[in-house]
Amino acid sequence: MSDPGRPKAGPTLDPDNWSELRRLGHRMLDDMLDHMAQLRERPVWTQLPDEVRASFREALPTAATPLDAVYRDFLTRIEPYSAGNTHPRFMGWVQGGGTAIGALAEMLAAGMNANCGGRDHAAIEVERQIALWSAELLGFPETASGIFVTGTSIANFIALTVARTARLGFASRRDGIAASGQKLSAYASAAAHSCIRQAMELAGFGSEALRLIPTDAAHRIDLAALRTAIARDREAGAIPFFLVGNAGTVDTGAIDDLEALASLAREEKLWFHIDGALGALAMLSPELRPRFKGIERAESIAFDFHKFGQIPYDAGFILVRDSEQHRAAFASPAAYLWREARGLAGGSPWPCDFGPDLSRGFRALKTWFTLKAYGSERIGAEIARSCELARYLERRIAAEPRLELLAPAALNIVCFRYRAADADRLNAELVAELHERGIAAPSTTMINGRVAIRACLINHRIQPEDIDALLGGVLGLGQTLR
Ligand SMILES: Cc1ncc(COP(=O)(O)O)c(C=O)c1O
Repeated sequence: MSDPGRPKAGPTLDPDNWSELRRLGHRMLDDMLDHMAQLRERPVWTQLPDEVRASFREALPTAATPLDAVYRDFLTRIEPYSAGNTHPRFMGWVQGGGTAIGALAEMLAAGMNANCGGRDHAAIEVERQIALWSAELLGFPETASGIFVTGTSIANFIALTVARTARLGFASRRDGIAASGQKLSAYASAAAHSCIRQAMELAGFGSEALRLIPTDAAHRIDLAALRTAIARDREAGAIPFFLVGNAGTVDTGAIDDLEALASLAREEKLWFHIDGALGALAMLSPELRPRFKGIERAESIAFDFHKFGQIPYDAGFILVRDSEQHRAAFASPAAYLWREARGLAGGSPWPCDFGPDLSRGFRALKTWFTLKAYGSERIGAEIARSCELARYLERRIAAEPRLELLAPAALNIVCFRYRAADADRLNAELVAELHERGIAAPSTTMINGRVAIRACLINHRIQPEDIDALLGGVLGLGQTLR
């Protein structure tokens, strides 16, 4: 007997007409490939006009809008006003340019709509493959564990959390750090990224427990000052436990003496973590690799495939030497996440056992595609080329009396400024003018208390002509603004 209350088959969110959707989808793909192929013809950045900005205050759209109208809306109100980080004259902050291959892979991942928190399916194996490749590249054992996260900010936080649980024991997850009665302290150079301080705050230590150690003339951590700080803390009853080495600082790309830090960490029984957001992937270049000696001795490394790796945003990664310690910091049993020896609930441990995210996208696919389609040697060569461009910019600045170099270019970052009596004001304005005129997009920072123009050459599309355009813009605007 059929149930008279049985619901009828209903509509889904799939299209009524797949052919129509296919046509529009193909056009979207063509338009986006054209967009990428023609980047150089556009200004690097175009500010959103006020009316466009204001237009994003619509009421929730309750009724359907035809898809081609939504797409036209995207083409007029969204796509023209990107940050420009795909553009060859984008040189600000630390932003990779992405690739068409990465974008295509992202489309495939979106189509699969894999939830990579866990369970037994191929997407998880792809992520494990990336962890293995990362371990091979960075000199970690193949038993190391690693997962994708949004970026190095959260990867650093995860590393600190693993180190905390390893030091205080599993009970600290239940009782909190205060219950241990131990006053733990951490160490990083004054040039470390602000996310290290934030990680200390989030993990409940407080930023006061982080010692920011002065740097030497090359912006690397001062080892003598580090030893003194550790000794002073021990005398005061604190327990030093976490040491961060920079594999490329955010301001200047300086690489700490990782070998010396690894030895010191062993002597002092500290967890040695490396912030490799910027530089770790430079290990792909045989020419640059020797500068990172000691990276293979770390307990954990945080790094980003979306920077030098040119994977579309976002693709941060955390790699931990001891997978058991990694898992002990995060795994949380729950009946609804029960693991089985067979079936879809197999394949334990799952990525959700190694970090705070349960629902997770398929970031591994775009990374897998990129590494396979280009090969790691080619990516390494691109990274070396970025550093060569930085040396070219550095030489041009040194030869130009109107400009002053503010820090040595250790990798791919050049900090400099236009000389003037009120150079701080002038250089800050100069950079804003470069952005607004769509000439080039460097960013600014402070180097030894002075405003610097900071060119971070990480985008693989940058060519010598773009460096020339940046310098032409700086010299022309410097003269005008004085
Ligand atoms: C050295 C360093 N650490 C950490 C970060 C933060 O990385 P993310 O933006 O991927 O969170 C950055 C970002 O530029 C960085 O350069």
